[in-house]
Amino acid sequence: MKEMKSQKLIVLFVYATIVSHDGRAITIDGHRRVLLSGSIHYPRSTPEMWPDLIKKGKEGGLDAIETYVFWNAHEPTRRQYDFSGKLDLIRFLKTIQDEGLYGVLRIGPYACAEWNYGGFPVWLHNMPGMVFRTTNKAFMDEMQNFTTMIVDMVKKENLFASQGGPIILAQIENEYGNVMGPYGESGKAYIKWCANMAQSLNVGVPWIMCQQNDAPHPMLNTCNGFYCDNFVPNNPNTPKMWTENWTGWFKQWGGKNPHRTTEDVAFSVARFFQRGGTFNNYYMYHGGTNFDRTAGGPYITTSYDYDAPLDEYGNLNQPKYGHLKQLHDVLHSMEKTLTYGNISTIDFGNSASATIYKTKEGSSCFFGNGNENSDATISFRGESYVVPAWSITILPDCKNEAYNTAKITTQTSMMVKKPNEAEDTPSTLKWSWRPENMDNFVLKGKGESTQTQLFDQKVVTNDQSDYLWYMTTVKFKKRDPFLGKNMSLRVNCTAPVLHAFVNGKYIGNQHAENGKFNYIFEKDVKFKSGRNVIALLSITVGLANYGAFFESKPAGITGPISITGRNVDETIVKDLSAHKWSYKTGLNGFENQLFRTESMSKWSVESVPFNRTMTWYKATFKAPLGNDPVVVDLLGLGKGTAWVNGNNIGRYWPAFISSENGCAAKCNYRGPYHAEKCLTNCGEPTQRWYHVPRSFLNAGDNTLVLFEEMGGNPSLVNFQTTRVGSVCANVYEKNTIELSCDRKPISAIKFASFGNPDGNCGSFEKGTCESSNNTVDILTQECVGKEKCIIDVSTEKLGAPDCTGSARRLAVEAIC
Ligand code: GAL
Repeated sequence: MKEMKSQKLIVLFVYATIVSHDGRAITIDGHRRVLLSGSIHYPRSTPEMWPDLIKKGKEGGLDAIETYVFWNAHEPTRRQYDFSGKLDLIRFLKTIQDEGLYGVLRIGPYACAEWNYGGFPVWLHNMPGMVFRTTNKAFMDEMQNFTTMIVDMVKKENLFASQGGPIILAQIENEYGNVMGPYGESGKAYIKWCANMAQSLNVGVPWIMCQQNDAPHPMLNTCNGFYCDNFVPNNPNTPKMWTENWTGWFKQWGGKNPHRTTEDVAFSVARFFQRGGTFNNYYMYHGGTNFDRTAGGPYITTSYDYDAPLDEYGNLNQPKYGHLKQLHDVLHSMEKTLTYGNISTIDFGNSASATIYKTKEGSSCFFGNGNENSDATISFRGESYVVPAWSITILPDCKNEAYNTAKITTQTSMMVKKPNEAEDTPSTLKWSWRPENMDNFVLKGKGESTQTQLFDQKVVTNDQSDYLWYMTTVKFKKRDPFLGKNMSLRVNCTAPVLHAFVNGKYIGNQHAENGKFNYIFEKDVKFKSGRNVIALLSITVGLANYGAFFESKPAGITGPISITGRNVDETIVKDLSAHKWSYKTGLNGFENQLFRTESMSKWSVESVPFNRTMTWYKATFKAPLGNDPVVVDLLGLGKGTAWVNGNNIGRYWPAFISSENGCAAKCNYRGPYHAEKCLTNCGEPTQRWYHVPRSFLNAGDNTLVLFEEMGGNPSLVNFQTTRVGSVCANVYEKNTIELSCDRKPISAIKFASFGNPDGNCGSFEKGTCESSNNTVDILTQECVGKEKCIIDVSTEKLGAPDCTGSARRLAVEAIC
C-alpha cells in the first residue's frame, strides 16, 4: 500500500510543470521565458470556432491564451450554474492544451471587459446590505464561493500547470488599483483579503493582480495599457509583465470604428521588451462577438472586434497578425539573452537609444527611436543604422537588423462581403410579421407588482430582460384646472432608451446620447377627464462595467416624473414620482419565445409593415455555401434583437449613426495612440453587419427572427459572407513578400510596380520610375492560381528600376 502511494506521487512529479518567477522572468521548469500571450474570451465565439482561433494564435507566435471567467454567465441565478455551449470553460481550456499552448486564467471574478455589469451577476447586487469589491461580508462570501468553485473545477481536470495542465498564471480581481481611492481603508483591506483568499486556494502557479501597485506578496502586480515600457512593479523582485496590451479599442453605439496601427502595436511591444519586459499579453487577440445580452456598457456594441489580430469572425487581420508574428519569432529567438543577459543602455539624445542584452554566448540589441517626427541615425560598433521615427529596430546579434516595428513586409488584406450564394435563394427575403402584444400594459397599465416608488431597473428585473414597464394611472375630474391647459409629460430618465404611451397611444421614444445617460424626456400629451394610463417602457442596453461602485450607477426611470399644465398666466406641476407604479419585467414576445423555430404563434404574411414600432419579423433563408464566416446585413432596421434558429446573435441598432466628425483622413502611426486616434466610419451606422456563426446554421432552411423596437424596414436585410477580397503589399528592396488569399487561389494581379510607386492599397499608382520588366506579368506567373506565393523584392527577380538609392519598393495588389 505504502509503495503504491509513492508511485502515484512519482507520476505526478513527472508530469507537473513548475511555474514560478525569479524576479526577472516567469520561469517554467527552471527556464526563464519570453512569453507572448493573447486574450480570447470563450463566450465571445462558439466552441466550433475555438480550435481554429487557438491554432491561429499558435501560428501567430503566441505561447499562451488568456481569458477571463464570466461570473454572471456561469451563475445567472444564485447557485444555479451554466457551463454549456459557449460557456464550456473546461472545453476551452482543453482546446488550449490540445494545441500545446499555455493558459492564463483571469478569474477575477470582476472582469470589466466591456461585458454586462463587468461580469457580476445582478442578483448579487440585490442581496441585502451588498456592496461590491470591498470588505463587505456578503460580497466576500459570494466572491470566495465562485472563485473556489472555478478553481476546484479546473483542478479536478488537472488543468493547472502544477498538475500537468496548461495554466501557468491565475488572476484575482482586476485593475482594482485604478478605482480603489473611493473605497478608502476598506479597499486596502479588501485587496489583502483577495490575496490571502487566492493564495489559500493552492493553485500551484503564481497569482497576478493587474494595475495593483500595493499588490501584497506573493501577488504579481502587472500593467495594462497602450504602453507599459515605463511600468515598474511595486515589488522590484518580480518580473515586468503586461497583462493587457490593447491592440485596438472597443466600440459603443453612436461611436466610430477604432483602429490602432500595426506599427504602433509592434512599437509598444518591442519597447516593452527593450526595457526589460518578459511577458506581453494582447488584449484582445480575438475580440469576437457580444452575443445575446452580454455586451456591457451602457452602449457597448454587439461586435467586439477590437481591431485585434484576428477579426470578429476569426479571419487574419493583416498586416497586424503577420507583423506581430514576425516580432514574436524574433523575440523568441533572443529568449536566452533577453532573460539572462546583462542590460546596458546608450542614450543618443533626441529619444534615440540602444539597449544591449549581453550574455557570455552573445548579445542582442534594440535600437529605439521614440521621436515622433524625425528618423534617427545610430552609429554602433562601426556601423550606421537608420531607425525611422517612432520605431524600434531589433538586432538579435547586435549587427544585422532582423526587424523594425515600422517596416511592414506582411501583406494587407482587404476584406469584402459577398452576397449569399446559396442555391435557390431569392435575392430578397420573404417576411412574415406580428405585433408585440402590449394591451395589458399600454391600455390597462397592469403589471406584476406595485409600489409607491420609482425603482432602479436592476432591482426589479434582476437583469432577466432589457425591458421594464413602469405604469401608473392618473385621474382628472371634469373641471380639473389641468385639463384646460397645454399639458406635457416629463420624465427624468436614466434609461438608455425610453418609449412612452398614454392611454394606449404611442407618444414617442428617446435614447441617451453616448455618455449622457441622464436626460429629460418631455412630450406634449392630451389627457382626458377620468382615468388615464401612462405606460413607460424603459430599456437597458448593457449595464455599466467600470468604475468605483459602478454597481450602483442608476439604470431605468429614477424620476422625478411629472405632468405639467401651462397657460398664459399659470404653470401647474403634478409630481407622479410617489404615485402607485405598476411594474412588469420583459415583453410578451420574449416570454412566448417567438424567436424559437418551433414557436406555434401566428405570423402574418399580409401587408408586412414598415417603420412600425414593437414589431416581430420572421423570414427563412438558406445558409451561404462554403465555409467563409457569415454575417447578416441589417441596414434599414432601427433597434432590436436578432435570432438565427433561436440563437440570440445580439442587440442590433443600425439606425444609430455615428457623428460626421472625428475621423482621421490620414492615420499617422507616429506618436502615442489613444482611443480617439485613427477613427473610421464617420456618419455611418455604428454597426451594420452582425455575425452569424456557422454552427448556428443548418444545411436546409434557417430562420431569422427580428424584434424591432423603434421601427425599421426589413426589405434590405440579407445574408453575406466575409472573406479576403484583395491583398496588397508595399515592400522595400531586399525583403520578401508573401501573398496569400487565406486558403483560396489568387485570381489576378491588379497592380504591380517596382520603383517608387505611390498611394495605398486599393489606390496604388506608378511613381516616376519603375523597372522596365513587366512586373505584372512576373507576378502573374508566380502567383495566379496559387494559394500563396513568395516574391523576392530584388533586381534579379524584377529587373532594375531606373531610380537609384535604397528607397526602391515593390507595390502590388492581387485579387483573391
Ligand atoms: C481594462 C480592463 C479590461 C477592458 C479594457 C478595455 O481596463 O481591465 O477588462 O475593459 O480595459 O477594453
